[in-house]
Amino acid sequence: METWDAIRARRNIREFADKPIPRKDLDRILEAGRLAPSARNWQPWDFVVVTERASLKKLTGVWMGAGHAANAAAAIVLVGPTQTEERKRQLLEYDLGQATMNMMIAATDLGLGTCHSRVDDQDLARELLGIPQDHFAAYFFSLGHPANGPLKPVTLKRRPFDEVVHRGRW
Ligand SMILES: Cc1cc2nc3c(=O)[nH]c(=O)nc-3n(C[C@H](O)[C@H](O)[C@H](O)COP(=O)(O)O)c2cc1C
Repeated sequence: METWDAIRARRNIREFADKPIPRKDLDRILEAGRLAPSARNWQPWDFVVVTERASLKKLTGVWMGAGHAANAAAAIVLVGPTQTEERKRQLLEYDLGQATMNMMIAATDLGLGTCHSRVDDQDLARELLGIPQDHFAAYFFSLGHPANGPLKPVTLKRRPFDEVVHRGRW
C-alpha cells in the first residue's frame, strides 16, 4: 500500500479474523517502532509482543476498553521507563506516540488492523509481561487481519480541515 493510502486506511479495528500474523510481518512492524524518532534520540521504548491466546485474553484486564485483545492475533505493549520529572514524562508520551503510529502505519501497509488501548492496571501488566519495577506499560495495541475484509482508504470522522489548519497564525 502507498503511505498516503495507509494513512487514510488506518482506523481502529476491534474484530479480527482467526489467522496468525507471520513472524516476518510482526518483526517489520516492530522494526518500524524501533526506527521511530525520539527526543535527543533517547529511544525510551521497549516493546513486548504477545501472541499466546491465553495471554491476549488476560491482557484485556488491563483496561475496561481493552476487550479487542481477546480476538487479536497479537498485541504490542509499549513499555517506558518511569519518569519523575514532568518534562521527561511529556517527552516520553510524545515519543511513545510516534513509535505507535510508525508501527500502526507499517501494520496497515501489510493489511493488518490495529486498535489502541491504555493500560490502567499496572500490577496485572507487570505480572503478565514481567515488566521491571522501574518501567511501566504505557499503552498497547492489538493487531490482526480485519474480520470484515481488507482495509481500504475511508472517510475518517475528523474535524474539518479548515477548522484544524491555521495558516501563518491562529
Ligand atoms: C491514547 C489512545 C488510547 C486509546 N485507547 C483505546 C481503548 O482503550 N480502547 C479502544 O477501543 N480504543 C482506544 N483508542 C482508539 C480511539 O478511540 C480511536 O483511535 C479514535 O476514536 C479515532 O478512531 P480511528 O482510530 O478508528 O480513526 C485509543 C486511542 C488513543 C490515541
